[in-house]
Amino acid sequence: MDNRELIKLALEARKNSYSPYSDFKVGAALLTKSGKVYTGCNIENAAFGPTVCAERTALFKAVSEGEREFVRIAVAGGKDDIPDSYAFPCGVCRQVLAEFCGADFEIISAVSPEDSVSRTLSEMLPDSFGPDNLG
Ligand code: THU
Repeated sequence: MDNRELIKLALEARKNSYSPYSDFKVGAALLTKSGKVYTGCNIENAAFGPTVCAERTALFKAVSEGEREFVRIAVAGGKDDIPDSYAFPCGVCRQVLAEFCGADFEIISAVSPEDSVSRTLSEMLPDSFGPDNLG
């Protein structure tokens, strides 16, 4: 599964975004070490607080299926049919990713399969608080 394919799956998942309040549609595709892909979209709520981001939808789907090891995630977000800028995971999603993913886990933000940028989790969440802190 190369990055372009993963981005295509994120863009596909984005079509299911339920975002009537922000109109900001996000899709994510998460690759496991075993080669499986779990996708997700953002799901908003009239009470706003219960809204879940695309990244957490994908991760929670995977974890609930028994997955624990991950390689990379592709994310695509924006208001228009085609994203017009890079969207990176919010702080809460970075923290949730850090629970299961190592420093080298790759986060790809894409506007298209041909146009993306890549960061590691440790770049996006340096000096993070994680399971190791609790011994
Ligand atoms: N959103 C995501 O799905 N992922 C992010 O990393 C940033 C924000 C969603 C949440 C909300 O539905 C909308 O984008 C606007 O914040």
